[in-house]
Amino acid sequence: MREASSQEGTPEERTVGGTPGGSGSANALAAGVLRRNGVKSWTRPAPTLYPHQWSWDSAFIALGLAHSDNGRATRELESLFASQWSTGKVPHIVFNPDAPPRSYFPDAERWNSSALSPDAPSSPHTSGLCQPPVHAIAVRRIWETSRGKDERRVSRARGFLRDNFPRLLNWHRYLATARDPEESGLVTIYHPWESGTDNSPRWDAALEEVQIGEVPSYTRYDLQHVADASHRPTDAEYDRFLWLLEMLKRTRYEEAEIYESHPFLVKDVFFSAILVAANEALLDIADVVDAPDEDRARIEAWMHRGRRGLEGCWDPELKLCLDLDVRAGEPLRTRTIAGFAPLIAGDLDPGRLEELLGTLDSPAFAGHPGLRWPLPPSTSFREPGFHPRSYWRGPTWPVANWLLWWSLLRAGEPERAAQMRGATLDQLSEGGFAEYFEPFTGEPLGSREQSWTAAVALDMLAAETKSA
Ligand code: SER
Repeated sequence: MREASSQEGTPEERTVGGTPGGSGSANALAAGVLRRNGVKSWTRPAPTLYPHQWSWDSAFIALGLAHSDNGRATRELESLFASQWSTGKVPHIVFNPDAPPRSYFPDAERWNSSALSPDAPSSPHTSGLCQPPVHAIAVRRIWETSRGKDERRVSRARGFLRDNFPRLLNWHRYLATARDPEESGLVTIYHPWESGTDNSPRWDAALEEVQIGEVPSYTRYDLQHVADASHRPTDAEYDRFLWLLEMLKRTRYEEAEIYESHPFLVKDVFFSAILVAANEALLDIADVVDAPDEDRARIEAWMHRGRRGLEGCWDPELKLCLDLDVRAGEPLRTRTIAGFAPLIAGDLDPGRLEELLGTLDSPAFAGHPGLRWPLPPSTSFREPGFHPRSYWRGPTWPVANWLLWWSLLRAGEPERAAQMRGATLDQLSEGGFAEYFEPFTGEPLGSREQSWTAAVALDMLAAETKSA
């Protein structure tokens, strides 16, 4: 794989490749990104843009490390779960006390979580939000890659699963209760950052309803780490993000209070679908650790409820699943990658699967004739909010491709999955392990040594000879 010129890393780090040399060299290049981004027991999502530990990045990182360094994969998640809140919430950022000053904003001080909430750990500091729960999927991968290895490794992996099953169960319970008091099967998010798709147009209408007050002054540091400010969310979007953060602080991150007063409450179908898939993984983990029947029954009930909830968000005209604005009681009618949520949740009836594949392969998504690679953009080309270079407003994201590829395999669509895998790996071979890509030109954007991109490449490469 070729490494594109970068804002990040030393010159030696950037010149990591020559020409594509098969999966062996691609594996080595991907593992190299994870090694260079490694800090102590965890991995930075990117060398300078993201200097702390991020929750769903870490889950994907562990999934990739499961193939190259199983011990490090377990430490990655242990280190994240050490900062789990007493409510079960896994925070979206665990702050690195050794990060260079003025490297990331909002910093631990701005979140002020441990001073405001007795539920937050006192050290290290964390943010007050969470992110999609990919973790159980990664834990299951750690188990899968350990099987058939020597007995010590299998027993270490079993011990890891046993230690972490209660943490995962608490995490999923938090999402199924505090984040779904309606028992709808759908997770409510409090901030676009929780969706992981920060500035996606899926949030535009709900954000427009938020009346912004006085935002305490701040300086953005993200823009100094990317080649072009147009790759990142705009200042207007940041003002809204920061205002919502202030609103959450006023509630002291207290869930019931947030539900009462917070101006941004949205049922996120993408997050909810990942939770269903993660519950499926948790059920497998429950088998390995011989968990009590009542735990298994609870997990199964969450899965069924989640799939039912997603079915209720289906839009027959757009042939996609839509988020729901809880405050307005209205669906958010925007065509984005999140609309494929039912595919990620799995267990679809054949008709629904066919409809989703039709949408995926249509010119609104991966079937657009002008694409460099037949991969879906984060936002449909048909949306007025589409932008080919701006973060989640249009670029293709390898991590989203991984989710769809893996879901296609689970849905019994190996040929369609193989196309997605081939196009994703070709894209990385040409553009390096970037954070995201311009869909028409294939230009790498954002951070150029993105850990989760390397991690999903490792997972896809490992599936060369077997199904995932
Ligand atoms: N993804 C956000 C950022 O870019 C926050 O988690 O900083």
